Amino acid sequence: MSTRPRLLPLLGTPRHSGRDAMTCLYRCGNACDHPVPNESDNPYFQEVAEAGFSRRGVLRTGAAGALVLGFGGAAAGALAAPAAAAPAAPAAPEAAAAGAAATKKAGPITFKAIPPNKLDTLIVPNGYDHAVVMRWGDPVLPGAPGLDVTRQTARRQSQQFGYNADFVGVIPLSRNRALLVVNHEYTNEELMFPGFTTLDAMTVEQVKVAMAAHGMSVVEIERAGRTGRWRAADGGNLPYNRRITALETKFRFTGPAAGSPLLQTAADPQGRTPIGTLNNCAGGVTPWGTVLSGEENFNQYFVGGDAVADDVKPKLARYGISTTARYPSGSRKWERAQERFDLAEHPNEANRFGWIVEIDPLDPQSRPRKHTALGRFKHEGANVIVARNGKVVAYMGDDERFDYLYKFVSDKKFLKGDSGVARRHNLTLLESGTLYVAKINGDGTGQWIKLAHGNKSYVPGMTAVEVLTFTRLAGDKVGATKMDRPEDVEPSKVTGKVYVALTNNTNRGVGTNPGVDPANPRVNNKHGHVLELVESRGDNTADTFAWSLPIICGDPADPSTYFAGYDKTQVSPISCPDNVAFDGAGNLWISTDGNALGANDGLFATPIEGPERGHLRQFLTVPTGAETCGPFITADDRSVFVAVQHPGELSGASLDKPASTWPDGDFAKPGVVVAWRLDGGPIGS
Ligand code: FEO
Ligand code: CA
Ligand code: CA
Repeated sequence: MSTRPRLLPLLGTPRHSGRDAMTCLYRCGNACDHPVPNESDNPYFQEVAEAGFSRRGVLRTGAAGALVLGFGGAAAGALAAPAAAAPAAPAAPEAAAAGAAATKKAGPITFKAIPPNKLDTLIVPNGYDHAVVMRWGDPVLPGAPGLDVTRQTARRQSQQFGYNADFVGVIPLSRNRALLVVNHEYTNEELMFPGFTTLDAMTVEQVKVAMAAHGMSVVEIERAGRTGRWRAADGGNLPYNRRITALETKFRFTGPAAGSPLLQTAADPQGRTPIGTLNNCAGGVTPWGTVLSGEENFNQYFVGGDAVADDVKPKLARYGISTTARYPSGSRKWERAQERFDLAEHPNEANRFGWIVEIDPLDPQSRPRKHTALGRFKHEGANVIVARNGKVVAYMGDDERFDYLYKFVSDKKFLKGDSGVARRHNLTLLESGTLYVAKINGDGTGQWIKLAHGNKSYVPGMTAVEVLTFTRLAGDKVGATKMDRPEDVEPSKVTGKVYVALTNNTNRGVGTNPGVDPANPRVNNKHGHVLELVESRGDNTADTFAWSLPIICGDPADPSTYFAGYDKTQVSPISCPDNVAFDGAGNLWISTDGNALGANDGLFATPIEGPERGHLRQFLTVPTGAETCGPFITADDRSVFVAVQHPGELSGASLDKPASTWPDGDFAKPGVVVAWRLDGGPIGS
């Protein structure tokens, strides 16, 4: 771009929550405009309420309880330390999680909260600084060209940093070297191609550019100076640097459904080698140093759902794939580049997406895998903890209104150590185990309902392969609890407790949609909440748990909000929690997506144990139109990485007429930022 483009006036059109219409279209195919895909008649308010409230007479939090049922705040407020109030309250959680730093106590958070704002820049507190580590189009593979939007090709994009990173992981190589591993969730062609008019008018090469801008990147980074600042490593010899794309990277299916007829296609009659990964949202770094990433809104990439056999249609519809339109509005036109995205020709291709993928950044030649044992849904991500008995447990959310919360428990045990033997063993841990879905009761307890183990199904009328491939339908049959968009689900390595970001659900209690329940206590839930699970006996493999809602988001002045009983005049407003992370002291960090309070999205931190529990403070805001993703705090607590996703994504914006010029002053480029304390001290606390 030779001339500085004209900046678009900020005319975005907020829709559901604070999300702009343009983000709704490109990120999730306008999911909220379609009927709720979960039409099951699972129990919600009535049954759980009768089981819970009438017996105990209180809700699991203060403010929401008052909102929903008119209970006084006093009784409910007494549940500020809810685990102790639950009948099935586990023993002290300090015993949880082998390998956890169980002796660490949550430290104080010392930064001064930044105020909400609408600035087209990234803001951190006084005493901190930040820098861009990688942005869309930066070279990843050695010798790759830099970004030139007038000359972009699929080949160039396949060597460059992709679009819209969401998950961020950092895998140390040494004290001053590490691998930055991210996924690239989706593309916004209007903001990528000069002169863009419509998706229909795109050339096939442009479609392939978009496919190459999806996937994942591995980038070697180096510490810059003595603080927590990091930058892309210099030099031509970067053997770990890697691009994984939706266009051509071969994956391997593992687990019970690998090779099944449901995964077989004309191009892959063995049903074991899917091509590419797409719409990867959150993820996690495993204890053995690999990266997991969730394939989320895969439905919007497929057309031709109207032409599949009648008995297949409900299985597509439950995942949000249109079974009435040949070319659903908003579909991405990928069938023009690769016929496999046309379900009329290749009805099983959609079954090859919606999985948890695992990549091994330390082995650049390794083939990434899709683990069928972890089920298929709109996977937000997966986070693994080593349980006390050595098995590994992956916690997962299905990010759709009224969908479910899951966990996977491995058959095999984690082996400590970096030896080749231990590592090879640990790389197989997610290939076999038991998949569970959560049922949440009104009395502060819950059950993990077994769905499948190996080739054994626990769901009437479904084989294990069907349970794993059509996991949403399995959850429907066993009465799983319909949640308000379960996004990132992450266990604290310090306590073993598990935190679920429930982003929002403006359909809750509206029209014929399900009403409130104890774990989703607000109608028209615009701002979301955070669920805390405490596994029974502090055992992450347990099949029961206690739960509470430590944070119910929104403007603290709104009586329906709740911050673990902390003085609400002292906390920052927060809306639409999406990703969670922990620092070494166990403080909970929360990033947001779609701030319905009108300010930019951001990153927040709060102690989650002790008297400061609920003292939530805003640490960072991202530029205009962007969502805050990641976050990832390095093991030395000196750096926090965040992905700045979809800056400038406001209706009417284009590359030529951008709504944001972050980060370089010309046009918007999504990227990854690191923030650090100027004195080199630990982030936050
Ligand atoms: Fe990609 Fe669930 O947000
Ligand atoms: Ca998300
Ligand atoms: Ca996380």
